[in-house]
Parts: sequence; structure tokens; C-alpha cells
Amino acid sequence: MTAIPAPADRYCVFGNPIAHSKSPEIHAAFAAQTGHAVAYEKRLAPLDGFAAAVHAFIAEGGRGANVTVPFKLEAVKVAQALTVRAQAAGAVNTLHFTDDGIIGDNTDGAGLVADIVNNAGVPVAGRRVLLLGAGGAARGAVLPLLEHRPAQLVIANRTVATAQALAGQFAALGGAGVVSACGYADLAGEFDLVINATAASLGAELPPVPATVFAPGALALDMMYGKEPTVFLQFAARHGATVRDGLGMLVEQAAEAFALWRGIHPDTAPVLQSLREQR
Ligand code: ATR
Repeated sequence: MTAIPAPADRYCVFGNPIAHSKSPEIHAAFAAQTGHAVAYEKRLAPLDGFAAAVHAFIAEGGRGANVTVPFKLEAVKVAQALTVRAQAAGAVNTLHFTDDGIIGDNTDGAGLVADIVNNAGVPVAGRRVLLLGAGGAARGAVLPLLEHRPAQLVIANRTVATAQALAGQFAALGGAGVVSACGYADLAGEFDLVINATAASLGAELPPVPATVFAPGALALDMMYGKEPTVFLQFAARHGATVRDGLGMLVEQAAEAFALWRGIHPDTAPVLQSLREQR
């Protein structure tokens, strides 16, 4: 007798636009690898209808969802409870629909750090880290970086007050004496790890970072990814840094979400390799 396969548990990613999302492909690979019956789709939510789209998906039996641009702040309000890292990030990229309600999490920062430490093999502990930008993407990275105990975490931003507010927020969360903020013109010294969390790459712009920030052997990481290296990665490579785009972070944040939903952390290496081979 052949067993009838259980219907797949449903997940999706909400965004606007959403057509180019790689998340369905990544989660399909995780499902195949772990043997979990998971169906994961893209959903275009109307700009003024995110909450309604989430509740409609729950009514259809959805078990969880990822959230991307421009809904990560609205997802905080849709969630009925937040994890510590989602609270610290002030943004939600993962929703879990449980018997206790809608839980909001943020796996972006953990994904970033996993990519740096596990995939690139670069430790954060004891290193000098420079974070460029102080918007949503940067905010999600601060707590996961601090958890790895860098020697120094400098947040540089065009609007210095935003960077100062961000550094101040984390001084109370284990960042005292480690986190500081400044403008690009005030950047001094060298860093082992330089992370571009600004939106500059979207417009093919370079944050005005001095070329002297890259210590010998530094790793430069851009949270963006595309067919060509971003202008920031090209600049970093010209000044001696090893460069890394945001594709690894994308796969790792997805793996963290899968782990939250399914209780198993997939092996990310073959999935990242297959995405790289497609380009
Ligand atoms: P995200 O959610 O992607 O972080 P955001 O919250 O709007 O988006 O934040 C954008 C970040 O990119 C900010 O730190 C912004 O700097 P300001 O706070 O000074 O605006 C930064 N940014 C955007 N374009 C930039 C550019 N061309 N050069 C440097 N920083 C830039």
C-alpha cells in the first residue's frame, strides 16, 4: 500500500515588488534537502494592504512568511509578539503563525554574521568592524555583530545623528565601550571587516568612505548582490580588501527562518553554491 503524502505546509514571501525574489528557490532546496513537505510561494502584497494580505494567507492555512521591502516595519505591527532580535532591529523579516499568535522575528543580522563567520571563515570576535549606514538594514546587524564580541564596532552614516542614535541604543545592550558613531569624514583608522548596509549600491553609488579604512587582509561585504560587483565592492577590491556580496547573507537568513519554522537548520553550502553557479 502506498502512503498518501501529507499536504505540504504553506509559507510565502511578501514584498512589492516580489517577482525577482530568490526565496522560493532557496526554501524549495531546503525542503528537498530536509525531506520536509513545504510549499513556498511569492506573494505581491498591495502597498496599502500588507496586513490584510498576511491575514488572508493565515486564513488559507499559511504557517509562516518572510517579509521583504517595503513591509519590514509594518510587519512589526502585524506581529503579536516579537523576538529580542526583532525588537532590537525594529524590523521583522520572518513571521511565524503559531497557536499563540503571530510571532515576529528578524533573521537578517544572524544571516549576515553566519555568512561572515561560517561561509567566509572570518571571525568577528576581537576584530575592528565598520558598519556603513544606520537605516533598517544596519540596525538589524548591530545586535548579532555585538553577540560575537568585536573589539570595536563603528557605525558611520551620512546623517551622523542617526548613527549616534543607533549606537546609543546599543550601548545598553552589551555595546558600551565597543559601539561608536561618526560621519564618513571623521572615519579614522583601519578595520578588519567593513560592511556596507547603506542603500547606496541600489543607485550604483559609493558611500563616501576613505580608502584607508581597509586593514591588510580586510573583508568588505555588501548586503546587496547582483550580476556585477557593486561599486563599493569594486572600490574595496581596488584597495586590497577581499570582497563578498549579499547572496550568502540571503541564503543564511532564509536558513534561520526555515529553522524557526521547521526546527531543523538546513545545510546552506550547496544552496549558495547552486545560486552562484546560475549567475
Ligand atoms: P534600509 O532599510 O535599506 O537600511 P533605509 O532605512 O532607508 O533603508 O536606510 C538607508 C541607509 O542608506 C541610510 O543609512 C542612508 O543614509 P542617511 O541616513 O544619511 O540617509 C544610507 N544611504 C542611502 N544612500 C546613500 C548614499 N548614496 N551614500 C551613503 N549613504 C547612503
